[in-house]
Amino acid sequence: MKVSIIGQGYVGLTISAFAGKFYEVLGFDSNQIIVDQLNQGISHIEGVESSDLKRWLKEGKYRATTSAADINGSDIVVIAVPTPLTKDRQPDLTFIDAACKTVGESLKNPALIINESTSFPGTIRNYIKPAIENYSGGMFEHLYAISPERVDPGRGDFNQKNTPRLYAGLTPEASAKTRDFYSKFCDQLVEVSSPEVAEAAKLFENTFRQVNIALVNEFAQITNALGISVYETLDAANTKPYGFMRFTPSAGVGGHCIPVDPTYRAAVAEELGVPATFIRRANEVNLEMSKYIVDRVEADNGGSLQGKSVLVVGVAYKPNVADVRETAAELVIEHLRSRGAIVAWHDDVVGTWHGEKSSDLAGADISIVITKHDFVDTRKIMASAPYVFDTTGKLPQAHGL
Ligand SMILES: NC(=O)c1ccc[n+]([C@@H]2O[C@H](COP(=O)([O-])OP(=O)(O)OC[C@H]3O[C@@H](n4cnc5c(N)ncnc54)[C@H](O)[C@@H]3O)[C@@H](O)[C@H]2O)c1
Repeated sequence: MKVSIIGQGYVGLTISAFAGKFYEVLGFDSNQIIVDQLNQGISHIEGVESSDLKRWLKEGKYRATTSAADINGSDIVVIAVPTPLTKDRQPDLTFIDAACKTVGESLKNPALIINESTSFPGTIRNYIKPAIENYSGGMFEHLYAISPERVDPGRGDFNQKNTPRLYAGLTPEASAKTRDFYSKFCDQLVEVSSPEVAEAAKLFENTFRQVNIALVNEFAQITNALGISVYETLDAANTKPYGFMRFTPSAGVGGHCIPVDPTYRAAVAEELGVPATFIRRANEVNLEMSKYIVDRVEADNGGSLQGKSVLVVGVAYKPNVADVRETAAELVIEHLRSRGAIVAWHDDVVGTWHGEKSSDLAGADISIVITKHDFVDTRKIMASAPYVFDTTGKLPQAHGL
């Protein structure tokens, strides 16, 4: 069976790695540099080893391409492309549309089309299916299904095999074929009654996290005003064996999912005339954390950051990954610069960001820790500046939330 996976990023390459054990996988990506690297056996995604990639390439199980024509003849096409927000923070389906164009124009046989990209309820039924039919001139009767991705890059305990997978087809045949496809490499498949339920469940999972992160971020500001430790208070609450889940305060939410997906949900809710109050407010609280942190650092440093050298430590959106999408470090740096600070950043995992290289972890007036990768030495961070502010809860000796 030939499977084409559109998009070879965090989701698409991870799925390719698992599916490649059972199917012939074609990884289609519009980025020539990524495709060239993949065909040389160089993985750019944590959790997909270059040594494995080299083996699959050698065994002829996997190949990457930028040529849309190669998709023809696929039995299954999986769409795993970005679903970001526009500049005015509205759902941006341009990548999905481009993927539909590729599939519609190049696939010359009936196939099962599965969407794994995160989007609002109704995307597969009202957007992807009509778009592909439009681009193909309605030549083929494809089957359509959704199976939202739950991968958490860099995570060791849960992966494609042991994370239950939701799915639903537009027809019973599409559902059955989707189940067959994933059952080879996923232990638990959960069918729901419609694609809209699966799409909505994925958005709710991430909204749940966004709202709870906002709640704990607001709570950290309250405990600070009360003069008590937020971490000790959370640990105390966490001794309750039911009805509580511990979230950790931070500089905000980052990554492609948590800051973005709830807005897809809010947009659809508001279109239907239902206010998405929690989602909008949670987003604001999380975005405002960067200002709160810089306010605290400024107050601790004589009320002015003018001319002070500030090192932002860890600019990836979470530990042990190189992903900087929607990172809270960006807003923290903006606030610092707007107050006259001379800002540099250190992150050896990210390496280069916005054309700037990672600076040494030393020699600043002030260090602010946004993300702490496991291998970074805590003592080195503490020695990098006379004043260190920690937003991660991993440096108890530092000032912090
Ligand atoms: N990263 C995660 O942890 C995660 C988890 C669950 C769900 N998701 C969702 O999965 C989807 C993909 O996210 P990702 O993290 O893999 O993104 P990514 O940016 O890592 O990868 C997307 C890839 O798609 C390629 N691409 C863009 N447009 C294309 C097109 N028209 N044709 C072919 N390739 C194209 C890009 O070059 C890139 O390599 C998003 O909807 C995201 O919300 C991501």
